[in-house]
Amino acid sequence: MDSFSATAARMPDLRQATIDHPERFRVLTGERPTGRLHLGHYFGTIRERVRLQAHGVETFVVLADYQVITDRDSAGNLRENVHGAVLDYLAAGLDPRSTTIFTHSAVPALHQLLLPFLSLVTESELHRNPTVKAELAASGRALSGLLLTYPVHQAADILFCKGNLVPVGKDNLPHVEVTRTIARRFNERYGRVFPEPQALLSDAPELPGLDGRKMSKSYGNAIALGMTADETAAAINRARTDSERAITYDPDDRPGVSALLETAAVVLGRSPQSIADELGAAGAGALKRLAIEAVNEFLADHRSRLAALTVRDAQEVLRVGHERARDIATATLREVRTAMGMDYTSV
Ligand code: TRP
Repeated sequence: MDSFSATAARMPDLRQATIDHPERFRVLTGERPTGRLHLGHYFGTIRERVRLQAHGVETFVVLADYQVITDRDSAGNLRENVHGAVLDYLAAGLDPRSTTIFTHSAVPALHQLLLPFLSLVTESELHRNPTVKAELAASGRALSGLLLTYPVHQAADILFCKGNLVPVGKDNLPHVEVTRTIARRFNERYGRVFPEPQALLSDAPELPGLDGRKMSKSYGNAIALGMTADETAAAINRARTDSERAITYDPDDRPGVSALLETAAVVLGRSPQSIADELGAAGAGALKRLAIEAVNEFLADHRSRLAALTVRDAQEVLRVGHERARDIATATLREVRTAMGMDYTSV
């Protein structure tokens, strides 16, 4: 069994443990604020966060603004993206009283953990990270120091609050491995400070974008949670299908049709195959109408909650989240410095 299958096989027990013993877990997860959150985010991670919160698991969500510049030159419209993400979290049901939402850049002590952590990994370990390699290839740029070391930075994101459970997609598994290695080596060298966190893999299959490729804002194939019903209809109507009348589920040969089936299926909680069977010879027009109606109905509540929120609400949530994250990061950094013998002034 490879390490991915081994991790996947542990998920049902781990998920059950979060229900039976929520007090044993502290969750840290997050994303890069590169654009509006979309359905892929919702089914990939946000729904799981809301579920963990409902079971009483303490949760931290980092909007990793410094990670935005790992594979691109411009940070983009960070202010708008950060506020938008916070509002989507609130609309999706994250409660800022129990979930701490913060940005990297507002928590300086978190970044200082990077220095001792970098001393615990070798250059060849950094170069071996498959996700870093894939992002480097996709960026079409030279490897920056930040891209090479960002998995270590991500270890600081997780360990600053002693997170021991990290809900992530498959592509972030190598970073959780790096985090475990760093925690273990730090504890061996300086005495036990950190937990060795476990990854919690999403149980939803990855939702393709409307063209069958990975759903991504940069491909223009995403359905943003905050789109209007008309924008959603336009995006789905623009999606390319094929001229075959019969609707069949065949992701390899019919990526467009299959992506629409998967989109409708995930929001309806059905299988793509059953929707294909139901549509039969009805054609792509009928499939699009079904998908539009299903997505818009699914997102209607989210969108009406979103409409009732303002940027000020996001700012208030961040103010509280930043203060809490800073307090925790400062306390952890103090512990780290004490463990390392860098405590010079206390008696
Ligand atoms: N690398 C994650 C992504 O791009 C985002 C992220 C940053 C993250 N820090 C994290 C995820 C800590 C989990 C834990 O999706």
